[in-house]
Amino acid sequence: MSSPRSSSVATAEPELAIVPRHVAVIMDGNGRWARARGKSVIAGHRAGAEAVRRCVKGAILSGVRYLTLYAFSSENWQRTAEEVADLTSLLRFYLRHKVAELHEQNVRLTFIGDLSRFDSGLRGEIERAGKLTAQNTRLTLVLALSYGARDDMLRAAQNIALAARDGEIDPTMMSEQDFGRYLQTSPFPDPDLIVRTSGERRLSNFLLWESAYAELSFLDVMWPDFDETHFAALMLIFPDVNVVLENA
Ligand code: IPE
Ligand code: IPE
Ligand code: MG
Repeated sequence: MSSPRSSSVATAEPELAIVPRHVAVIMDGNGRWARARGKSVIAGHRAGAEAVRRCVKGAILSGVRYLTLYAFSSENWQRTAEEVADLTSLLRFYLRHKVAELHEQNVRLTFIGDLSRFDSGLRGEIERAGKLTAQNTRLTLVLALSYGARDDMLRAAQNIALAARDGEIDPTMMSEQDFGRYLQTSPFPDPDLIVRTSGERRLSNFLLWESAYAELSFLDVMWPDFDETHFAALMLIFPDVNVVLENA
């Protein structure tokens, strides 16, 4: 199957390896991993946070340039108050204490999602992490927090309607590219590969617009068990017949 998209991949070493430029991951299975071990759900999320570090390492080793991780969906606010509190404090902890490690790895950390729903403490950590790592160039790590693709598209439509009302744009002349500029994902290329762990085979409101031509890969491994070897295996199955070299 060939893709109409071009420039969708970069080469880590021009003649040696072809890797997707942007990999996006739905990190699922923390709860089931914990239950299978008689542990609390938060223990599953904690173990999941360690898997994030291994995934980032895998992305760096593979030469992937953009890694988007679905960490908290708009729908996840409907989980119990206790689980939401546990998840947000885990996030706060990682942003406060572990971003230095990403910075050392030359990783730029950035965010998509409705961050206004988080408390000011967490928003402060998010801002600090973004500023600290803003100039890094090896990998752009996009954390999707309080993110929903429908929410992002709805906001885009609202902003387009407002701009049209104010005479700033002619909506009838708008292209797909123009529309994409109103999405929070606009600074990043579309994902070439979307991975979901835990055996579930759905997108759960993740990157619906951006995934139009993405390859999809569903792994049976629970997210806390994910490591660099899973990442490397994903690179091997990436169908090189479907790629166009950036410099071709
Ligand atoms: C994914 O793991 C992490 C988040 C959604 C925050 P889950 O918590 O959804 O784990 P399962 O699906 O219950 O196993
Ligand atoms: C998707 O997983 C969201 C994240 C991984 C953050 P969920 O476990 O929340 O999705 P559903 O509810 O099974 O579709
Ligand atoms: Mg789940």
